[in-house]
Amino acid sequence: MKHLLSINDMTIDEINQVFDWSEKLKKYVKEGTEHHLLKGKTLGMIFSKSSTRTRVSFETGMFQLGGHPLFLSSHDIQIGRGESVYDTAKVLSRYIDGIMIRTFKQSDVEQLAEYGTIPVINGLTDLLHPCQILTDLFTVMEHKGDLRNLKLAYVGDGNNIANSLLYGCSKIGMSLSIATPKGYECDETVIKNSLENAKKSGAMIELLNDPVKAVEKADVVYTDTWVSMGQEDEKAKRIEFFKDYQVNEELWVHAQKDAMFLHCLPAYRGYEVTREIIDGPMSYVFDQAENRLHVQKAIMVMLMKDAN
Ligand code: CP
Ligand code: NVA
Repeated sequence: MKHLLSINDMTIDEINQVFDWSEKLKKYVKEGTEHHLLKGKTLGMIFSKSSTRTRVSFETGMFQLGGHPLFLSSHDIQIGRGESVYDTAKVLSRYIDGIMIRTFKQSDVEQLAEYGTIPVINGLTDLLHPCQILTDLFTVMEHKGDLRNLKLAYVGDGNNIANSLLYGCSKIGMSLSIATPKGYECDETVIKNSLENAKKSGAMIELLNDPVKAVEKADVVYTDTWVSMGQEDEKAKRIEFFKDYQVNEELWVHAQKDAMFLHCLPAYRGYEVTREIIDGPMSYVFDQAENRLHVQKAIMVMLMKDAN
């Protein structure tokens, strides 16, 4: 594995290696075991969008691995004033050992990887959020074991989270039912690739408009904001369109009795999810948030430990 741009680029062995490293590194934190697997390495973190979890977990993770995290807001570096991705990739490759980037276009992340000589990690684009979904699947596995025996239901916008769930579940062989309103479905290419993956892995993929049908007997119910970063102008329209896609107690009765609720956060209570669900005993959202730290440390170790 050279980069983490999309879960679709990963083999099942690489996904399992991420989970194994995550388990090991989480144990080290809990036991207080000292190790400095990335001593002397620097990770540049380019942010063109806001972040709480991604920034803090990558920055803390790199510190815990003995390396140096460098926060690069696109407002402060020249890429924000129009310097090309090509030049940025070439220059950063002369200084640092890896790049994490959160931005709008997936193609910018791909170009950074193509033109640079160091590992690139996708920290969210409009299309995908692979670090989040690897973390979420790890979190489900910790609580419920083999993912191939489980059904995950995603209710809401066919956004970066839903697209990466399609890749994650279809690679692993986990059942996935997605319910979106008409006109807000997942990306067409992501759907096509995921249906191909599912043929090999045996994953059952359902793309629906009915939230009740999606949640029927689900082991995990997942939702995300109706208004992603960059869509603020559409807020009023989206709230109106998505109002029947709220995860609430009425919808919850259709899931398995011991179902887990997941949300990547930030959450907007009263919109995509009610307080009774996100603050209830079925909610694992803070375990998810914590695991970002462990899983991203695993990703950095796998990509950067032996890279020159
Ligand atoms: N879930 C997630 O990526 O959160 P941030 O936007 O706070 O990084
Ligand atoms: N879909 C959300 C995820 C935030 C972590 C967004 O892109 O804003």
